[in-house]
Amino acid sequence: MMNKKSKIVLVGGGSTWTPGILKAMTTHLSTFPIEKITLYDINADRQSVIGEFAKILFKEEAPDVKVTYTTDANEAYSDVDFVFCQMRTGGFEMREKDEKIPLKHGVIGQETCGPGGFAYGLRSIVDMQKMVNKVRSISPDAWILNYTNPAAIVALALDKLFPEEDKILNICDQPVNLLRSFASLIDFDANKFEPVYFGLNHYGWFKHLYDENGKDRMPEIKEIILDGGFRPVDAEQRDQSWLDTYAMVEDMLRDFPDYLPNTYLQYYLYPDYKLSKMDPHRTRTDEVREGREKKVFEECRRIVKNGTARDSSVVHNDAHGDMMVEVAASIAHNLRKTYVVMVRNNGIVANLPDDSMIEVAASLGANGPQPYAVGKIDTFYKGLIESQHAYEKLTVEAFMENSYTKALQALTMNRTVVDAKKARLLLDDLILANQKYWPELN
Ligand code: NAD
Ligand code: G6P
Ligand code: MN
Repeated sequence: MMNKKSKIVLVGGGSTWTPGILKAMTTHLSTFPIEKITLYDINADRQSVIGEFAKILFKEEAPDVKVTYTTDANEAYSDVDFVFCQMRTGGFEMREKDEKIPLKHGVIGQETCGPGGFAYGLRSIVDMQKMVNKVRSISPDAWILNYTNPAAIVALALDKLFPEEDKILNICDQPVNLLRSFASLIDFDANKFEPVYFGLNHYGWFKHLYDENGKDRMPEIKEIILDGGFRPVDAEQRDQSWLDTYAMVEDMLRDFPDYLPNTYLQYYLYPDYKLSKMDPHRTRTDEVREGREKKVFEECRRIVKNGTARDSSVVHNDAHGDMMVEVAASIAHNLRKTYVVMVRNNGIVANLPDDSMIEVAASLGANGPQPYAVGKIDTFYKGLIESQHAYEKLTVEAFMENSYTKALQALTMNRTVVDAKKARLLLDDLILANQKYWPELN
């Protein structure tokens, strides 16, 4: 079984995350053997920088793996087992607008949360629908592993647009980032956690963190965070905004001591406070452009110029690449390891809508995720999740029905907006900014 070599295409091959995934592929070859890797992007310039880096990396680390890059979708999607997908429709130019337009209206400006996530969501659905149709016309049996954000909305949209699909898996690295950071607090190996997690993507909570003996380590971890705060395990690689974000876990824990929250909940639980910390003229996009993006592309160019990647430090987050590759390995070789992933609820959280795309722990094998039942959740969490699910569903319906009213309902439903007059002004501004990308809403 393990001799089977996988054929992979990476969509958004020019993404800042691609070098990390490639690096993880080179370190996981014994558990995830690879025959070929194709990088695919619509931006030839970005693609060639990362593509040339990829060739050098594999020539040095795994010369048997065939590495190519292309801007041709037909070539990219032919003869593949896995489509790893992380595209950004509209690029950083549009991410900047997703963050700065809401801030002009006194609302949280964030890539995946609130009106920014809504705007990005409507753009992503358009390209993701095209991608799935194209892949299916060429490689009907390939697994599509999607990271494209806002993953919550993309997951729900793809579930509604392709209800019969059983080989699309939407994943996020934040649960695994958090698991690694929790583990470091108690000097534990994060891979050994058996987490109980529930919620929606970027909107969930850890309920238990069992170790290999079945002991719940969450009480200890909570104590440590309440005593000394919380930092990401890779703090030295993080920008200040991420350190501030992790620190908010302590606040959330103090207010709501039941569970350990996903960091993204800070925007929904403390919108006024977070807004007061945001600069309408300098957002996360500026930080990424000057930081991660600059570093990744400069480093890849340097590697290509020197012809070696041996001395490179181009990877900025191991957890991300490791998870993407390990998830694929678990499917390819039926390993049935546990990962937190997105699935259609169908009773897994007993008192949430069946059609919500929840994020939960699942055993992952050749037939996809088999989620672990969570049971009923308490009123506070149920209420929060139901309103966020309603926002996500209205966003997807706005897309499918070209409905301005549903778009307005979606934004009004979002906890970062609430006021319908504010929602209308925001929506009209977002429509103007997204004309090139969104379907018409009327
Ligand atoms: P980026 O802009 O640097 O990279 C995205 C790449 O996708 C670009 O090179 C762009 O040209 C390309 N692209 C855009 N539209 C495309 C299309 N239709 N087909 C093929 N390629 C296309 O962005 P990034 O910061 O590297 O992030 C990439 C994506 O991964 C984003 O959606 C981001 O939100 C997501 N991401 C998700 C997670 C998660 O937890 N789910 C984690 C990290 C990144
Ligand atoms: C986390 C989230 C992702 C997000 C990433 C990068 O890992 O889970 O969904 O894309 O952070 O965010 P950044 O603001 O650094 O681009
Ligand atoms: Mn995520």
